[in-house]
Amino acid sequence: STSHRIAVIAGDGIGPEVVAEAEKVLDAVCGPANIALEKTPFPLGAEHWLATGETLPQVTLEKIREHDAILFGAVGAAPGDTRIPSGLIEREILLKLRFSLDHYINLRPSELFPGTVSPLRDPGEVDFVVVREGTEGPYAGNGGVLRQGTDQEIATEVSLNTAHGVQRLVRFAFELASRRERKKLTLVHKHNVLVNAGHLYQRTVNAMAPQYPDVTVDYLHVDAVTIFMTTDPSRFDVLVTDNLFGDIITDLAGAITGGIGLAPCGNINAERTAPSMFEPVHGSAPDIAGQQKANPVATILAAAMMLEHLGHGEQAEQIRSAVRSDLEDHGATQRSTAQIGDAIVAALPA
Ligand code: NAD
Ligand code: IPM
Ligand code: MN
Repeated sequence: STSHRIAVIAGDGIGPEVVAEAEKVLDAVCGPANIALEKTPFPLGAEHWLATGETLPQVTLEKIREHDAILFGAVGAAPGDTRIPSGLIEREILLKLRFSLDHYINLRPSELFPGTVSPLRDPGEVDFVVVREGTEGPYAGNGGVLRQGTDQEIATEVSLNTAHGVQRLVRFAFELASRRERKKLTLVHKHNVLVNAGHLYQRTVNAMAPQYPDVTVDYLHVDAVTIFMTTDPSRFDVLVTDNLFGDIITDLAGAITGGIGLAPCGNINAERTAPSMFEPVHGSAPDIAGQQKANPVATILAAAMMLEHLGHGEQAEQIRSAVRSDLEDHGATQRSTAQIGDAIVAALPA
């Protein structure tokens, strides 16, 4: 038997509800395969900060680092909650984890499963992956505020992009595209305006393309991507993009493929110098928290990505096919969070 240490950060809002279902599915699939998951829960998030004043202390980060992978729900308060400064929890917990553990690949697959309802009238076959940069760009925390609160206030967030960061991202995207059936890579940026970072991305893609002669490469400005993602999403295979653009287009990708409650994310440290982290694309959804209204599929699919990363491709595929068959049968049915988790467990191979 194999054993893995999993740090579980359920977080705020619907986080604990969706993580509970993912754990249910993990237990059901790992038990029979003799895969032991030693789970350590870490109480972190907005509620934890309100109760204790701590976000993610260094000692806790070091304990998390000793695990083989992290299963993450969501953190953060309702956007209008005045008790918590917006950005504190997100930066000091989620982004601190991504940056400290060097999660430079933020991997976000989008698939329109049979049985799910897309808001697009005629979406066609949708099956693409966004390879979003995870540790740089405008998220780097580079900037500040001058003369705050005055009419002369100047606020900056300076996007940080390194050749090292862009090269390892683009390398990963080419490798992924070359393993997929359609072998197509779309660079997404805005190099008609962001000429510094944009050209670094474009030059990096151009320089690597000859090493992947079977991969078709193209480029779209990010604003045009929002057009094609709504009018012709089946044109996409692998998209590679910066941190902020990737954030925005993956919420859109979730929406067109049946809802953000279905979209998983892997924060990958591909060199495995620290544990990778698996989570839904969505947030803590304070508007539906505590009501068993959240769809746990995104987190369940993230758990499948985690098993794949840990070397259990067979069990990952079992989860994905159970999700597929459940969506095919009940994709349009109103069900509680736990009912969906139970149905997916029931759809696993006996
Ligand atoms: P959100 O993703 O939490 O919610 C957006 C909308 O999608 C809401 O109407 C919500 O009800 C719905 N939704 C989200 N997940 C769903 C699910 N599983 N099933 C059904 N509906 C779902 O985004 P937001 O409202 O912008 O952010 C809320 C909080 O979450 C903020 O504090 C934000 O910073 C934080 N956030 C955290 C993460 C994370 O921890 N990874 C990600 C995004 C947002
Ligand atoms: C996501 C979230 C985060 C991001 C926030 C909460 C920091 O929106 O995971 O998509 O912007 O990356
Ligand atoms: Mn987001």
